Amino acid sequence: MRGRTGAWLVQGVNQRTYVAKWAQPGSVRGLISEMYAGTLLSHLQIRTPPITILDVTDGVLLERSDYLRIRGIADRARLHPGCHYGSLVEPDLERQAVYDILPTALYRTLDNRMDFVATLLVDKLLNNRDYRQAVFYRQQRGRRQLVAEMIDHGMCLGGDDWVFEDAPLWGIHVNPAAYDEVLGWSQLEPLLEEIRELPPALLESVRERVPAEWLLIEGGLAGSELDRVADLIMARRTKVRSLIQAVLDLPDQTIFRNWGCASPIEYPIKKDCTRAAANPGRLSASSGAGD
Ligand SMILES: Nc1ncnc2c1ncn2[C@@H]1O[C@H](COP(=O)(O)OP(=O)(O)OP(=O)(O)O)[C@@H](O)[C@H]1O
Ligand SMILES: [Mg+2]
Repeated sequence: MRGRTGAWLVQGVNQRTYVAKWAQPGSVRGLISEMYAGTLLSHLQIRTPPITILDVTDGVLLERSDYLRIRGIADRARLHPGCHYGSLVEPDLERQAVYDILPTALYRTLDNRMDFVATLLVDKLLNNRDYRQAVFYRQQRGRRQLVAEMIDHGMCLGGDDWVFEDAPLWGIHVNPAAYDEVLGWSQLEPLLEEIRELPPALLESVRERVPAEWLLIEGGLAGSELDRVADLIMARRTKVRSLIQAVLDLPDQTIFRNWGCASPIEYPIKKDCTRAAANPGRLSASSGAGD
């Protein structure tokens, strides 16, 4: 599999397929970030694979190292059987194609395109330092309807060291077509409100699921570190709107290309649309779609 974490495709005893990400020194914070983001996204009904803690056997690790050895690929991982992170692969890989990249014209056929802007709010809350990644596939074989599933949240919580800083372009998906149905604040307010009201118990539930052995693998990562990031997340709940405003305030922002337009505009953008860019930070929408 591609990717910097050395993810690996495995099959569970339940016959389901998972992308396994390995718990080893240096990776555990990223896995915990995946757990926080996956839990929050699912809670907000944004499409993302359910989080699974895999119990990986010696046999799987041997198969993996044989695979690498035969192909002459250096194996720098220090893996032990036990708990590792699993991201469920929902489509049937024997029959369904899964794509990392979607042609721009196909974004408008996505069943859940609004999930991208919803995920951006969560990425801002969780201080995702990466761009927003997703996989795309057809929900049912032979059907045209595509869905996007949000994956790879390992750089949330401020990245590898859990140091929170902000930058307007962090968390943004690579293709702005993902945000073309976003017209103004009125679409975002309900979710912003839900985020402001996120219960602390949700974060506690993540903490309880973090395998104790991961903390040991990470050189005795302290439970108080988990409390610290949970407190930081809670404190950021009211900050998300201003973090989105920072995106809108970018000079000539081209992320929300239809912000301030009167109605959803399919790609390509209508030429007669009045854009907010002439008045950065304040919207000139006449439709009531913005504020
Ligand atoms: N749940 C999933 N369903 C289908 N495919 C997946 C899933 N999770 C990951 N993948 C595939 O595995 C690849 C690697 O996953 P991911 O991006 O999470 O790993 P990573 O090592 O963190 O990558 P990066 O280099 O972006 O940090 C993805 O590009 C995607 O193709
Ligand atoms: Mg990735």
